[in-house]
Amino acid sequence: MPAVLRPACRALWAAASVLDDLADRRDVEPAEREARVEAWTQALQRDLAAGASTDPVRHALVDTALRWRLDLSSLQGAMTSTRNDARGRYFADWAEWQARCNEELVPWVDQVRQLFEQVGAPMTLRLDRRKDYEQFIDGSQLTDVLTDLSADLAQGLLLLPAEALEAFPGAEDDLRQGRWSPAAAALISDLTALARQWVTRPAMTRGMHPGAATVLNTAACLMRAQLDAVEAAGSTLLKRAPRPSLAARTRILAPARLRSAMAWSLTPLTVPGPRPPAVAASVPRPAADNTGLRPPPPHPDDARPPQIAADRMPSHVAVIMDGNGRWAEQRGLPRPEGHRAGTAAVREMVYGALEIGLRHLTLYAFSTENWKRDTEEVSTILEAIRRDLDEGPLRDLDVRQRWSGRPDELPEELVQALLREERRTRGRTGLTLTVCINYGGRDEITRTAAALVQAAQAGDVDPHLIGEDDFTRHLPHPDMPDVDLLWRTGDEQRTSNFLPWHATYAELHFTPGYWPDVDRRDLWQAITEYGRRQRRHGAVPLVSPRRPPATGHIRADFSG
Ligand code: FPP
Repeated sequence: MPAVLRPACRALWAAASVLDDLADRRDVEPAEREARVEAWTQALQRDLAAGASTDPVRHALVDTALRWRLDLSSLQGAMTSTRNDARGRYFADWAEWQARCNEELVPWVDQVRQLFEQVGAPMTLRLDRRKDYEQFIDGSQLTDVLTDLSADLAQGLLLLPAEALEAFPGAEDDLRQGRWSPAAAALISDLTALARQWVTRPAMTRGMHPGAATVLNTAACLMRAQLDAVEAAGSTLLKRAPRPSLAARTRILAPARLRSAMAWSLTPLTVPGPRPPAVAASVPRPAADNTGLRPPPPHPDDARPPQIAADRMPSHVAVIMDGNGRWAEQRGLPRPEGHRAGTAAVREMVYGALEIGLRHLTLYAFSTENWKRDTEEVSTILEAIRRDLDEGPLRDLDVRQRWSGRPDELPEELVQALLREERRTRGRTGLTLTVCINYGGRDEITRTAAALVQAAQAGDVDPHLIGEDDFTRHLPHPDMPDVDLLWRTGDEQRTSNFLPWHATYAELHFTPGYWPDVDRRDLWQAITEYGRRQRRHGAVPLVSPRRPPATGHIRADFSG
């Protein structure tokens, strides 16, 4: 594992282990065990909303979820299944055994896959590799059952399907009585061969990032070494858990660590910034610190951001800043004046984003279609952006600034100023502000497809295995997360070629006011409304929304 992922993986591992232990405690009555698992799961829900926990394992998990923006709702099914285990387990056949295994384990492993994705080294998994992946997880579970046979039998457990046991008459009784009979030995030998077959899935890692592939391939090697130890154990399997020798483990781990270090050194990994506040309003206004960065200036009315529970906070808000021209015309001013006023609103938005703890804000400043406008208007927009970069109103804020769009046709000084600010702020970890200039969504997709074709021609990706993750990796900003909330001002309801790849599941928010009139409270209101939406991503919702959706466009009172 790359070092940056270890704490998060340990937090997930610890939580899964605690739940498993609660369900398995043989000195506690089944109903009580079930109640303990349920209580732990419900406490986790509360802790997630609060952003902290008094329980160290839950705290680590909550912190991981917030830091890495993990959606833990997919773990709900796994936790329910673990709770049901407290009443005992019986599997009629392999299909039932595998279904339970997948229900309990796959969601946890999927969280680890999400982490790899966030770090920028996706464990690409094509849909047609899903079977391999599930079988690999079945194999790891069967390896575990064989390893822990003596401990489980001591508790009266034999976690194997009746179908497998019945194929070797007498074996079940012998095992339960602690007898290493020929039937028991034949059963174990058969199961060991099956587990070996399941964990050996070379196709699963094809096309994956080499670091992620090394992790999975090494896990498979370790499990095969474990199965060698099971086979070699003979009758002692009924007395203690077999372990592969230190030499056997070193033979696998030493070269794997080298391969892994090499693979991770070739990829710049994206490390998340500091944890966003779970409940923004409970965080005091930060004072200037010794990093040289200052907090955003307060709102003129001292308005403060609303309380947003961590699991209701979007990661990425994208804004189409519309209505500059009409704002100016309404005041009898030339249109370019609207763009100058719009620049001030951009600062306000950045202040609001920092105050509420937003991680990504992306602004549509100039589209590839905007060249069709009057030359003077085009120059005013581009000049307003360049002046803003030179004056540097965001210079001392914790903002990583970057730009998305085509460099051709843009004035050279503007391109240089954009690159300069990108370089200067690249180590900042607060808000990532991406300004889209000479940007077109279809253009971005076309350029990405071209980059992917080049990678295929160079033999870096297999065209038959290309998945969505490969596409994402070739985007101009591979670490840009999906847009959660797409907001357009100016009373228009279109997405206008803005971030089509990232915004396929975005919640849409349209407001009637013109861009130069917005202030940070409008961003907070958009985020508040987003928190009330029920996002499904094509699935059936797990929980109902907290409140009915708000109507109207009246700005909420965020006064201090
Ligand atoms: C759309 O309004 C707005 C634009 C095409 C330009 C937006 C640019 C800025 C606000 C400047 C950005 C500055 C920085 C520093 C990022 P419109 O002109 O289409 O308005 P209309 O629909 O009323 O005509």
